[in-house]
Amino acid sequence: MTKNSRANFGSKLGVILASAGSAVGLGNIWRFPYETGNHGGAAFILVYIGCVLFFGIPIMVAEFSIGRHSRSNTARAYQKLAPGTHWRWVGRMGVLAGFLILGYYSVVAGWTLDYIVQAASNSFAGQTANGFIAAFNNLTANPWRPALWMLAFMLMTHFIVVKGVEKGIEQSSKIMMPMLFILLIILAICAVSLPGAGNGIKFLLQPDFSKVDGNVLLGAMGQAFFSLSLGMGCLCTYASYFRKDVNLPKTALNVGIIDTMVAILSGFIIFPAAFSVGLQPDAGPSLLFITLPNVFQQAFGGVPWLAVILSIMFYVLLALAALTSTISLHEVVTAYLHEEFDMTRRKAAILVTTGCSIIGVLCSLSLGVGKELTIFGMTLFDFFDFLTAKIMLPLGGFFIAIFTGWFLDKHIVWEEVSNNGTLKKSIYRSWLFLLKYVAPIGIAFIFVNELGLLK
Ligand code: PHE
Repeated sequence: MTKNSRANFGSKLGVILASAGSAVGLGNIWRFPYETGNHGGAAFILVYIGCVLFFGIPIMVAEFSIGRHSRSNTARAYQKLAPGTHWRWVGRMGVLAGFLILGYYSVVAGWTLDYIVQAASNSFAGQTANGFIAAFNNLTANPWRPALWMLAFMLMTHFIVVKGVEKGIEQSSKIMMPMLFILLIILAICAVSLPGAGNGIKFLLQPDFSKVDGNVLLGAMGQAFFSLSLGMGCLCTYASYFRKDVNLPKTALNVGIIDTMVAILSGFIIFPAAFSVGLQPDAGPSLLFITLPNVFQQAFGGVPWLAVILSIMFYVLLALAALTSTISLHEVVTAYLHEEFDMTRRKAAILVTTGCSIIGVLCSLSLGVGKELTIFGMTLFDFFDFLTAKIMLPLGGFFIAIFTGWFLDKHIVWEEVSNNGTLKKSIYRSWLFLLKYVAPIGIAFIFVNELGLLK
């Protein structure tokens, strides 16, 4: 792919699937449940849905518009639309965020590979909940095993990105996403019918608003940006490959709905199962990995071959969902290096893979031998998660909203968003209102509130 012959996504379905493939990943199935568990359940979910509706989807439309109109990587996009201004730093911050996220995200993606092997070797059979906790701690404390899986995952991502946009991303999303969705539904049905699952369902559906504080707001906002792949130019880069006839608001709405459904569905697997075996909902990043084997064990333990097949399928699909997200993260940084520094895509991709692997190894070690080394009281892994999801992405989203809502030429915005003038004016105006006022003020409020300046 050269600079002036950028690739295109082949079909509209491909566009939705690739964007949803970026959005749906460990953020929904691993991160959403543990953040929900850490922040008290149902009330967090409601705040989260509010963030998706009022910040997420409007900002996604803005990112799509910037990307498709400029037809370039996220940093160049701002340079094209606002030459000679500092807006390009928004793009650059996005690239940096993508680089850091890819580093620690691949660690978790690596765990899913390890769990495929564990599932295939039937090592869940006959275990208790405590056994699953021990197995997880064993894995993350080991200096080699998770780091090697992380590297394996990074290399898979690397080769798909080097192969190019259309073939790699689009083809893979088409089959995997629907399969994952069906399996999640099956698992949710199993989980809610476990004995004692009722308390988990209550945890998801009975909001306790007295628990909503600055921390919950920041957590929900960060989760919304992270899960929707927003605020770092990821969907902006993807949109630079969209054709002109793709309906941007509709695509954003579809992605938002699919992404939220997968997250909530995951909640309906994890919490009923956790409460059923007496696991704490606030176990943090380990939650998915210590809870899920219980579901396979309890629901299908009586038919061992079925338990093995379903658990392998689940971890394979989870790894693939993570892969469509790591591809999108990698693509942002690769496209940036390739187009800004005049290097081949291959060389750019090698640099990204090497850099992120170093971050990944450090993050992986920080959960075991490097536990003592903390930044602001957090392990390196937790720190990168906090810095990117809770600070950089919402900050990026804030600037994207301001840029598109206040700065960008309204003819360009209308041209991109209206889908050749077919969008109702009233919908356009409501969207613009959310983008100009609601999103930036809301994001700023949450930041300021969390910094304790509003006491
Ligand atoms: N949205 C992805 C997920 O939920 C993670 C991601 C974040 C991907 C930011 C790209 C950009 O797993």
